[in-house]
Amino acid sequence: MDMGTPSAATHEHANSAYPWDSFNPTQYVLDNYARLIEDDRQILQMVRDFFITRAPKPGAHGVDVGAGANLYPMLAMLPFCDSVTLFERSRSNLAWLGDQLPDFRPIWDPFWAVLAAKEDSPYGLVDPRVAAARVRVQPGDLFQLERGRWDLGTMFFVAESMSEEMGEFDEALEKFVHALRPGAPFAAAFMAQSPGYTVGGIRYPAVAVTADDVLRSLKPLVEEVTVEPVFSGEVIKPKYQGMILALGRAGAAID
Ligand SMILES: C[S@@+](CC[C@H](N)C(=O)[O-])C[C@H]1O[C@@H](n2cnc3c(N)ncnc32)[C@H](O)[C@@H]1O
Repeated sequence: MDMGTPSAATHEHANSAYPWDSFNPTQYVLDNYARLIEDDRQILQMVRDFFITRAPKPGAHGVDVGAGANLYPMLAMLPFCDSVTLFERSRSNLAWLGDQLPDFRPIWDPFWAVLAAKEDSPYGLVDPRVAAARVRVQPGDLFQLERGRWDLGTMFFVAESMSEEMGEFDEALEKFVHALRPGAPFAAAFMAQSPGYTVGGIRYPAVAVTADDVLRSLKPLVEEVTVEPVFSGEVIKPKYQGMILALGRAGAAID
């Protein structure tokens, strides 16, 4: 499978230097999603309410960039989309995603329950395991994302958690927003001030970003954006400082 050549320099702290095909999705889910923590719950509620108010036109196509081993961004888009593409580089995560669909594991039910709790909303009209038949998995490198292709987008814990280079953080956000049609709603989540992370004994990189960094990077790319820290105070791992959520609409891509 040819993933293309990442556009950024290939030195030891760049995205291309890390063993993404060895990413252990089972361990990652156990580490991060075995229990629905308060910060993820708040993010789900905010994304849900944002997507309800900015719902794309019927027939929309959604994308979750760097989907990895997390189904909740996809679940948040599902009621609004004719198709959702899970775009991912890692072979092990692609295999995990293929294995989860459409009859995903019960571990994701509490996440869906937060979405479905909103009364009189599109989430109440959907059986997620039936709707998940509309989800497809696409291998690829986000630095090679097609432009202007999708009507709704998510990118969770990817831009800041796939390189140690701030330049690649900015570039990942640019590729993500430019993959959307102008005006398309999006949600992007980030670990705040992350020191990097370990999955099954393998060290993966991060750029230690703040909400100000996210806003600075997104502002030139968007029609509309809000960026806010999300932190209930529960320290779920060493050096954890909460999450950051950006909600907005893509601007027109300028070359
Ligand atoms: C920290 S995980 C986040 C996974 C998931 N989105 C979540 O919310 O938990 C980072 C993900 O980015 C993916 N990734 C890293 N570099 C990538 C690239 N160049 N293109 C696409 N995906 C990439 C990894 O394989 C991994 O699934």
